[in-house]
Amino acid sequence: MKSNEHQEQMEKIVSLCKRRGFFYKGSEIYGGMAGFFDYGPLGVALKKNVENIWWHMFVDSQDNMYGVDATLVMHPNVYQASGHAKNFADPMVEDLKTNKRYRADHILEENGVDVVGLSPDEMNILIKEKGIKSPDKNPLGEVTQFNMMFQTFVGANADSESKTYLRPETAQGIFTNYKNVLDSFHPKLPFGIGQIGKSFRNEIAPRDFLFRVREFSQMEVEYFVAPETWESNFEFFQKRVWEFISAVGIDAKKVSELEVSPEDRAHYSERTIDFEFEYPFGKKELYGLAYRTDYDLKNHGEVSKVDLSFFDEDKKERFIPHVIEPSFGLERTILAILSSAYSEDEVNGETRVFLKLIPEIAPYQFAVFPLLKNKPELVEKAKEVYSVLKQRGVRVIFDDNGNIGKRYRRQDEIGTPSCITIDYDTLEDSTVTVRDRDTGEQKRVKIEEL
Ligand code: GAP
Repeated sequence: MKSNEHQEQMEKIVSLCKRRGFFYKGSEIYGGMAGFFDYGPLGVALKKNVENIWWHMFVDSQDNMYGVDATLVMHPNVYQASGHAKNFADPMVEDLKTNKRYRADHILEENGVDVVGLSPDEMNILIKEKGIKSPDKNPLGEVTQFNMMFQTFVGANADSESKTYLRPETAQGIFTNYKNVLDSFHPKLPFGIGQIGKSFRNEIAPRDFLFRVREFSQMEVEYFVAPETWESNFEFFQKRVWEFISAVGIDAKKVSELEVSPEDRAHYSERTIDFEFEYPFGKKELYGLAYRTDYDLKNHGEVSKVDLSFFDEDKKERFIPHVIEPSFGLERTILAILSSAYSEDEVNGETRVFLKLIPEIAPYQFAVFPLLKNKPELVEKAKEVYSVLKQRGVRVIFDDNGNIGKRYRRQDEIGTPSCITIDYDTLEDSTVTVRDRDTGEQKRVKIEEL
């Protein structure tokens, strides 16, 4: 595909998401806010399916994994200890005329500069040397560091004492609960804690639909290991990330690993692999896998004065566990799923749009139609089949609007894998037509075999 075709595909996905109720702009009736999206009814369904697969793979199916759901607003000392108060910043540059602010690395990239490993000072020099201007063709100021955490004040006084932040990663809610889990469950090493929840980042330049937003969800594991075993545990999770990619129906051929250079790693990491996906707007980070050493527990122990060491009963040794962290963005997962699934073909000379979602992820697994809307006996039977499936816990939708062809198109567009039609034969022999979304193939199936 050429780049304008990629752009076109992205626009089609964005428009489908809005039209069919996957995503809406946040606060849309007030014009929306950059970097905030609301999940619509189908988006919520998709999100829950992704979360359930993740939770099952990383928490429920494992013997040594525990789940938590920590608060979004945390004690200010958390961010001192975690290093986010000092280090969680992006390089920013301002248009000296319009005062619009941009990511300095993005401006450089757009001007053909490879920014890997560049410090803010080096970016500054390059912008000056190359005479790079803002997108509005105005001179740019100095590159500064902008802290991305959202500030808030707790209680009635808005002063420095009450100031804290919304969490920028779910990980910190895990580290602050590490000792609670140790004390309640007495696990041996290695063990892990998983969490799914919201994170907030005041991104300088939110962009590319769900890719870079200011409020998003993360699915993270902090896996506590004996220091000498970090490499094997890192490799274990490297494989698990690939398994998850396949389990949610992301096209694995579009994913590749990037060993992140030391200069580009987060402040807490001694090794990071980024899993990158070929989005329609380019190859960008999907997930991260990091070796966080004992950085977080050591610092939280020092700042809180609480002993966060672990006593290994077998070795009779006390030490601070090291941490392996696979980190998954939920919105990026959904964008990768939608980009992998978006398909078009031609049916009867018309373009048909369909989402090749796997049944585990699709908002609905089945749609049930009566062949004719104005025949009560068909409608009644179709409603009966619909209710039985629904009671069995199948995600199913009933549709009797427009002709069958239109109903198929509507279901194709939201990725429903199978459509069931109830016709006059159904009343005779209890069979229905099941039509496959991808091939259009139709089969006669007994109702009880559905
Ligand atoms: N706890 C580690 C951590 O937060 P990160 O690389 O900053 O590491 C992890 O973020 C994942 O969260 C990313 O790989 C991505 O999937 C997602 N993510 C990060 N920033 C995001 C944003 N602004 N919008 C959407 N997803 C984001």
